Amino acid sequence: MSSQHELILILDFGSQYTQLIARRVREQGVYCEIHPFNKPLEKIWELNPKGIILSGGPSSVSDEDAPRLHPDFYDHLEVPVLGICYGMQLIAVDLGGETKPAHEREYGHAQLRRQSGPTRLFNNLPEELDVWMSHGDHVTELPEGFHKTASTGDVITAIENPDTNIYAVQFHPEVAHTPKGKDLLRNFLFYVCGVEGDWTPAQFIEEEVEKIREIVGPNDRVVCGLSGGVDSTVAAALVHKAIGDRQTCIFVNNGVLRYREFEDTLRMYEKNMHLNVVGVDASETFYKALGRKALPEKKRMAIGKTFIDVFDAEAKKIGGVKWLVQGTLYPDVIESVPVHGSSVTIKTHHNVGGLPEKMHLDLIEPLRELFKDEVRVIGADLGIPEEILQRHPFPGPGLAVRILGNITKEKVELLQQVDKIFMDELKAEELYNETWQAFAVLLPIKSVGVMGDFRTYERTIALRAINSTDGMTADWTRLPLDFLAKVSSRITSEIRGVNRVVYDITSKPPGTIEWE
Ligand code: XMP
Repeated sequence: MSSQHELILILDFGSQYTQLIARRVREQGVYCEIHPFNKPLEKIWELNPKGIILSGGPSSVSDEDAPRLHPDFYDHLEVPVLGICYGMQLIAVDLGGETKPAHEREYGHAQLRRQSGPTRLFNNLPEELDVWMSHGDHVTELPEGFHKTASTGDVITAIENPDTNIYAVQFHPEVAHTPKGKDLLRNFLFYVCGVEGDWTPAQFIEEEVEKIREIVGPNDRVVCGLSGGVDSTVAAALVHKAIGDRQTCIFVNNGVLRYREFEDTLRMYEKNMHLNVVGVDASETFYKALGRKALPEKKRMAIGKTFIDVFDAEAKKIGGVKWLVQGTLYPDVIESVPVHGSSVTIKTHHNVGGLPEKMHLDLIEPLRELFKDEVRVIGADLGIPEEILQRHPFPGPGLAVRILGNITKEKVELLQQVDKIFMDELKAEELYNETWQAFAVLLPIKSVGVMGDFRTYERTIALRAINSTDGMTADWTRLPLDFLAKVSSRITSEIRGVNRVVYDITSKPPGTIEWE
């Protein structure tokens, strides 16, 4: 796919913002990929990029083990380069300039002033710009052939060498806190690299459909697991467009979905999207597997394993299946960079992990080049209802990780009712789309209350709403107090067995989004 498009290559030095750079580039209609900073040079040139962006990163160029480019990188450079933050410091020291550690890390807003004199990167941008900084080192001496194009106070903030087409900025043009960052990236892409912008959703669909037809051939059968979420639904719709009913979709009720989700979504798949879909209500099998398990990881394992068994048995009934469709997205595909350090598993995510291996099927992953927001755009182009496209993320193990402790049908039904009230109210007040994810949690404690003349001793519900861009970090949503009051009062008056509602005001970190 990438070879058919103009490509911008992003070399990742471990910045938390690297994916954001890629999204900003793609928003301008330019395809780009993220690769590790130490990708072999010949592999870089094979990709035939139109330009290269060096990302930021947590290291200091003066560290002994700082991530570096291949020493020959600059020797046969035929395309423009833009260094951002760490990328700028790297360019400076690699090409004979100098950097120094700042007295303290500069973090936050800054105002930049452009220098007089020619600049291609800041072409048509104002004299003064608000920018976002996050760095420890800064450039103190320019490499030969470079001139300073912007500064904040006496710190050099941007440099360029128009002869070698190398540009660098100390700030982060990719974040929203740099309001003109988009224009600066646009200058780099269109004016410096000379791309035309040939990456559009409609074209993506057309090419992907062709590709799917080609790899599946005229006779093979394909199976796809639907979850009711955006990714699997868009993946299924794309494959449906390519090969129609030779794709069989399987939608499993694991007994821990939301209120009426199985029935309603199944109907929508059949009636609105005309998918060839089999609905399997395996609730009882899942409840049996969950048994009295109360520990989060045990519950996740039980659900993951049961899902694989149920799905596999169902797929065998279809017969002659060679391919499995998965809605893998680009963030799952990007090779993580060693400078991140080793990451610890906080929670295992068992959705369909292990499925392809068990079933000996080859994978079709039509969304593996896309970010979530791009998937939504493609989904809209494919005519998928808004209701699915805007749906909050929902974990594979469903309500089982929102009922603390062991799972019973009665607890599931109670939480489904509570969750429905919360979702209905969010939608009614137009807060649903403003929130990245919201849900209710059933706590394993009872507390004392009073209702009429009676003392009650009932369950507690925690409401959680967060905002996030990718689920990796999150801030709790400041929902209006009157809104929370209404939801709380509806829950305690309409749901028997709940006499207390609390609101979770923990961000991630230190909390995670789900409670288990
Ligand atoms: P945490 O709780 O790890 O959640 O902060 C981050 C995001 O991932 C979702 N999540 C899951 N999704 N299977 C999934 O498909 C899982 O086992 C799982 N656990 C958490 C969570 O809803 C949030 O959006």
